Amino acid sequence: MALALVATATLAACGGDTPTGPKNKSCTEDPTQVKCQPPTDTFPSTLKGMAARTGRYFGASIYAGFRSANSAAYDAILAREFSMLVAGNDMKWDAVQPRRDAYNWFWGDSMVAFALRNGMKMRGHTLTWHNQVPAYIRSQNWSADTARVVLTEHINGVVTHFQGRIYAWDVVNEPIDDSGLLRDTLFARSLGGTAFFETVFRSARAADPAALLFWNDYNLETPGPKQDSTVAWITRLKAAGVPIDGIGLQAHLAITAGGSGAAAQQVYFATLQRFASLGLKIHLTELDVRLPVEGGGTVELQAQNQAWANIIGACRLVSACEAIVVWGVNDGESWLTPGNVRKPLLFTDDLSKKDVYYTVLNALR
Ligand code: XIL
Repeated sequence: MALALVATATLAACGGDTPTGPKNKSCTEDPTQVKCQPPTDTFPSTLKGMAARTGRYFGASIYAGFRSANSAAYDAILAREFSMLVAGNDMKWDAVQPRRDAYNWFWGDSMVAFALRNGMKMRGHTLTWHNQVPAYIRSQNWSADTARVVLTEHINGVVTHFQGRIYAWDVVNEPIDDSGLLRDTLFARSLGGTAFFETVFRSARAADPAALLFWNDYNLETPGPKQDSTVAWITRLKAAGVPIDGIGLQAHLAITAGGSGAAAQQVYFATLQRFASLGLKIHLTELDVRLPVEGGGTVELQAQNQAWANIIGACRLVSACEAIVVWGVNDGESWLTPGNVRKPLLFTDDLSKKDVYYTVLNALR
């Protein structure tokens, strides 16, 4: 009798999955479906709430929505869902120090004030990078002494201004190139890699001893020469006493046509453990999962969901992985071109939750 019941139940369950079964609706079409509900009544129903259950932060980079005169709906999502913010552009060198003698704090200060008012942590992004730099440091060929002066001036100026209000700074951004070599930039060239890293991390530490200092880069989520080289650099620098507290894995993931592209959870897990074993905190700093430009059919959308689940599931298993930050709130403000076809984020442009939002909520559990 019991067996017969099981068999009937199994058959009935299978029936729903056949091509002639009910259409698999999205949460926008039918928000009453079970998969669109928060996991259970006893679990929090927001990203920050679910992350906080395991002592983690859930963050977002913020853009035009925040800066618009009409930001109420956007700000409400920020306050409800996120416990960490980062300026998408407004704390980069060209934004905060457009000329050597001129600083501009307006948007950085507004964002920090909003974060603190709402009990959120603020990440600072980024003290040094090869992109989005002002004209006065572009195409220069400075001596080591001049380079050091300009660099420490910038770091002192910015870190001191925000002192006590930034939880973690990305001190270096993308310092290693795709083949694993030190990226050829003005400051690394003039000072040499070791002196460059020593200068920037030590100046940042001196200017705000309470801020965590991060090394941030892309394509570190999977093994390869870039990951190896980054591990080797950080190991050497930490052994020499350079204050590096954390590694930021940007985690700009991509699904290719046909649905491959993202790695398995064990691959991300092994990466996180590798960085954790160096004594580093880990932040996923710029997470997004883009669809191919051809657009996403069912296969690609499923792969996209799986990628979110895999990387967040991996973070969930490694205690050093304490923050997950998505690079934008809604698809329309994503940095990824062209247009809006990549659909890499958790909210639609009218700020409703996408299916992947629920995937993430579940993976954080
Ligand atoms: C991007 C911003 O999102 C865009 O608005 C801007 O035009 C270019 O920079 N890695 C980083 C981020 O570290 O600073 C970049 O942000 C995305 C890639």
